[in-house]
Amino acid sequence: MAHTTSPTVDTALAYVEKRRNDFLDELKDLLRIPSISTLPSHKKDVRHAAKFVADQMEAIGLRKVKVIKTAGHPLVYGEWLEAEGKPTVLLYGHYDVQPVDPRDLWVSDPFEPEVRNDNIYARGAVDDKGQMFGLLKALEALMRTYDGLPVNVRLMIEGEEEAGGAAIETYVREHSDRLACDVALIADTGMPAPGVPSLVYGLRGIIYTEIVAKGARHDLHSGAFGGVAPNPIQALAWVLAGLKGPDGRITIPQLYELLRPLSNEERDLWKRSPIDAPALLKQEMGVDVLPGEQQYSALERLGARPTLEVHGIRGGFVDEGAKTVIPAEAAAKVSLRLPPEVAPEDALPLLVARVAELNDPQVTGVTMEVVPVHGGAGVLVPVDNVYMRAAERALEQEWGRAPVFEREGGSIPIGALFDSILHAPVVFMGTGLPDDNIHAPNEKFHLPNFYHGIRQAIRFLDILGSDPAVLARPDRMRVSANGSTSATTTSVHGSPRQSSTNGAQATKSAKTPKGKAKA
Ligand code: BES
Ligand code: MN
Ligand code: MN
Repeated sequence: MAHTTSPTVDTALAYVEKRRNDFLDELKDLLRIPSISTLPSHKKDVRHAAKFVADQMEAIGLRKVKVIKTAGHPLVYGEWLEAEGKPTVLLYGHYDVQPVDPRDLWVSDPFEPEVRNDNIYARGAVDDKGQMFGLLKALEALMRTYDGLPVNVRLMIEGEEEAGGAAIETYVREHSDRLACDVALIADTGMPAPGVPSLVYGLRGIIYTEIVAKGARHDLHSGAFGGVAPNPIQALAWVLAGLKGPDGRITIPQLYELLRPLSNEERDLWKRSPIDAPALLKQEMGVDVLPGEQQYSALERLGARPTLEVHGIRGGFVDEGAKTVIPAEAAAKVSLRLPPEVAPEDALPLLVARVAELNDPQVTGVTMEVVPVHGGAGVLVPVDNVYMRAAERALEQEWGRAPVFEREGGSIPIGALFDSILHAPVVFMGTGLPDDNIHAPNEKFHLPNFYHGIRQAIRFLDILGSDPAVLARPDRMRVSANGSTSATTTSVHGSPRQSSTNGAQATKSAKTPKGKAKA
C-alpha cells in the first residue's frame, strides 16, 4: 500500500488479504443469527450471537473472555493487556440488530446474507455486526502477525444498543475500574460519501416515548356515540400537530434556551468538507425538498438542532374494509433527538408538560400519558488530542485522503458514558455509507468498506503503539504485566478535554428516563 509507514502493518494487511474470503464467510455466519434485541421472542438468538462473539475472542487469543449476564441482554468482554508500556484501547461495538419489518420489502431474506454488486445484504450487515466484526478481525490479523498486539486492548461488545438497553450503562458505572483505558474506539458510525473517510466527534442524544391516549371505557359505535364521545386518535392528532410546526420548530421554547451556538472553529471544520450535503441527502431520500428549520443548514439541523419525530401511531381500525368504531385507546411513539448540550433528563419533563398543555381532558375527554421507553445522552468529544491525530493519520494512510470531521444525527449512548464516566477520549471511526439502509429494509454493507474498516483499525492500533506523541503522554494509563492498571495521575485526560473544538464541556451524564410521567 502506497501510504503505509510501518513494515509490521504491511504483514497484518497481507494477512487480511489472504483471509478475505474466510472473514466474509464468518461474517455471514454471524449475520444469520437473528439477534433482534427489542423483541422478547428473540432473546435466545441474542444470547447465541453473544456466544458467537465470545468464541471469536477466544479463537483470537484474547484473555478473560466472558459473556456477562445482565438484567437485559449479555455483554461480551475480552482483554489482552500484555503490551507493557503501551496504551490501552477500549473497543466497542454491538452485536444486536433492529427488527426487520416490513419484511416483504426485502429483496433477500434479512437473515440469509446475500452478496450482490459488492454489497452484503442482511439485517445488521453494517449496523453493527459487520463493523464490530471488523474490529475482531483487525485484532486477529495483528495477533497472528505481530508478537502479540501493538497496544493493550479491552473489548466491550453490547447486545441491547438498538433497544436502548441500560445494561451497559449499569456495568460501566459499577465497573469503571475494569474498563480503564487511554482511548476508546467505537466502530458504529458512517462516512459522508464513498471514499471520504470520517471522524465523528459529535452525536445527538435521544428520548424515546410512547404517548398513550385513553377515552371511553370501551370501543363505541360511531353513530350511536359520535357527537358526544371522546376520540383518542383525534386528540392524539391535535397533540402531535401541536408539538411541531411545518417550520420544523418544536413548540417547546425552553428546549432552545438550552442550546449553545456553534463555534466558529466548528463552522470552519465543516467548511473543509468536500460534501454537498443537501444534494446527497435529497438523492438518498428520493425527495426534492428538505423540510425543517430552513434558517439552519442541513448539517446543523442534523447534528446540532433538536428534532421531534413520530415513529408510529396505533389505534382504531386499519384492516381492509370499513368499521364504524370510535376507539377507546390510541398511542403514538414519539422521540426527541437532542444536541449534546441538552440532557435527556432535562428534556423529558419539558415534553411531558407540553403534552399536558396541548391536551385538556376537560375539553377532549381524553387522558394522555407520556411513557418513557428509553433515552441516552449525546456527546461532543474534543478533536485536538494525540488520539485524534493518530486516527486522522490512520485514515489518511488507508484512504489516501484526509478525513472529514462530522457530527452525526444518530445516537450511541455509550459514547457519552465513555466520555463522562471513563474520561476516555472517544474516537468514532466507522465505514457505513449513506445508502446502507440502516434500520430499513435491504440493509447492506459495502464489502470494500468492510475490509477498509478492518485495515483502518489495524493502522490506528499500530500508530497508537508506536507514535512518540502518544507514548510520551505523561498522564497515560500504565498497564502492568499482570493486567492491573493504575493511572499516574488522577485526572487521566485533563489537558486535551479543556481545549475541545467547541471550547466547552458539552457532555452531561446519560440517564435513562425511568418510570411513568403523567401528562
Ligand atoms: N449506529 C447507530 C447510530 C448511528 C446512526 C450513528 C447513524 C451514526 C449514524 C446506532 O446503532 C443506533 O441506531 N442508535 C440508536 C440509539 C437508540 C436506540 C438509543 C438510534 O440512534 O436510534
Ligand atoms: Mn449501531
Ligand atoms: Mn442502529
